[in-house]
Amino acid sequence: MSKLLFLFLCLIIIAVSVSVGVVNGTETNVEIYELKRGDFSFKATNYGARVVSLVLPDKTGKPVDVVLGLDSVKAYLNDSKNFGSLSGRVANRIKGAQFTLNGVVYHLDKNSNGNNSIHGGFLGFNKVNWTVQEYVKDGPKPYIVFHYNSYDGEGGYPGNLSVTVTYALLQPYKLLLTMRAKALNKATPVSLTTHSYWNLGGHNSGNILSEELEIFASRYLPTDKQLIPTGEIAPVKGTPFDFLKFRQIGSRIAEINVTNGYDTYYIFDKYNPKKKNALFLAATVKNNKKTGIGMNVFSNAPGMQFYTANSVSNITGKGGYVYQPYCGYTFEGMGYPDAVNRPYFPSVIINPGEVYVQDMLYDLQVKKY
Ligand SMILES: *[C@@H]1O[C@H](CO)[C@@H](O)[C@H](O)[C@H]1NC(C)=O
Ligand SMILES: *[C@@H]1O[C@H](CO)[C@@H](O)[C@H](O)[C@H]1NC(C)=O
Ligand SMILES: *[C@@H]1O[C@H](CO)[C@@H](O)[C@H](O)[C@H]1NC(C)=O
Ligand SMILES: *[C@@H]1O[C@H](CO)[C@@H](O)[C@H](O)[C@H]1NC(C)=O
Ligand SMILES: *[C@@H]1O[C@H](CO)[C@@H](O)[C@H](O)[C@H]1NC(C)=O
Ligand SMILES: *[C@@H]1O[C@H](CO)[C@@H](O)[C@H](O)[C@H]1NC(C)=O
Repeated sequence: MSKLLFLFLCLIIIAVSVSVGVVNGTETNVEIYELKRGDFSFKATNYGARVVSLVLPDKTGKPVDVVLGLDSVKAYLNDSKNFGSLSGRVANRIKGAQFTLNGVVYHLDKNSNGNNSIHGGFLGFNKVNWTVQEYVKDGPKPYIVFHYNSYDGEGGYPGNLSVTVTYALLQPYKLLLTMRAKALNKATPVSLTTHSYWNLGGHNSGNILSEELEIFASRYLPTDKQLIPTGEIAPVKGTPFDFLKFRQIGSRIAEINVTNGYDTYYIFDKYNPKKKNALFLAATVKNNKKTGIGMNVFSNAPGMQFYTANSVSNITGKGGYVYQPYCGYTFEGMGYPDAVNRPYFPSVIINPGEVYVQDMLYDLQVKKY
């Protein structure tokens, strides 16, 4: 075989392998990608742009993985508890799976309680395969960019939407998540979030009920039995929802009805609609007694869903560890749930050409004893 023919064949093989796995702009290969900076490392998968692990040294120097996750791509493909996932086009619940925008009624997938829509529908952003747009594995600022083209009518939503999600490791022990979406041809609601479950004692350390938490939110959204906001905006003060001062997550959890734990939208006091993109301190978890790891959560969203994994039960996770209720919690910065049906909630509508911006910064500290 001549050298030229050999080269030509190589090129064809490369071209074929690049195009394999991409059908109509939809990735069909699912992989796990690692970012590494010294003793700080992170894994994600392009299936649902999900966080798989976040490892840092505990107070004795031993590596500890502080997010819950599953052992294989196959397990993620069958997951129903949203481990590590990126939710959209609109995170959380939409009453009656419908809304009206510019005079048009849009009917969404009814994938929650038979009549409501949740997390973008049956095949939300948490269940589609994203493409990897950029990937810098190590060095001073490792990062990965996932991209997804959401099409007009997907889940019932209007217009094409181009979405990018970036995870970056900043030293020491900061994970930055940036979420961007551009409406390409029609106005559409957009409210993205991360559903990663945290446990600063280690993903396999049992429940989080004794973790001490502070949330800088003096108001929350009460909900009905299907977890749809009633429309009321209520003060947390004195209620079981009050985390204005550090207290153990479990100390009043038994008083929460219907959901058997927190599944609650908190309105951040420091959110300023005039400084939409500026990060502020939204919540703090005190240093875990066993690992010495604590966390400051920064956000630029109007509020967040705080969920204590109430319905996670008997799920075999990483290393064969079985996750049970309260094995972790989520800090899901996002727009107000059901904002599309509540004109007095801050709007989640993005107009053509406009860019949706939302970031979360997880700043972990290790206290050495
Ligand atoms: C994502 O990739 C997996 C694994 O290849 C495949 O089974 C699945 O059908 C893909 N999903 C979509 C929505 O294309
Ligand atoms: C898929 O998940 C369901 C629970 O949601 C579980 O019952 C089933 O065993 C899982 N299947 C596989 C192949 O893991
Ligand atoms: C479902 O939602 C629609 C729209 O909000 C409402 O008209 C209808 O009564 C609901 N049906 C049930 C069974 O809740
Ligand atoms: C919207 O997406 C469809 C494919 O889903 C494509 O044919 C069309 O050109 C896109 N339009 C714009 C304005 O991006
Ligand atoms: C839970 O229900 C009890 C009994 O109906 C009630 O007293 C309590 O206020 C409820 N708790 C919350 C947080 O709504
Ligand atoms: C979890 O597993 C235990 C032991 O096998 C069983 O008793 C329990 O009913 C299971 N719980 C659920 C919600 O499946």
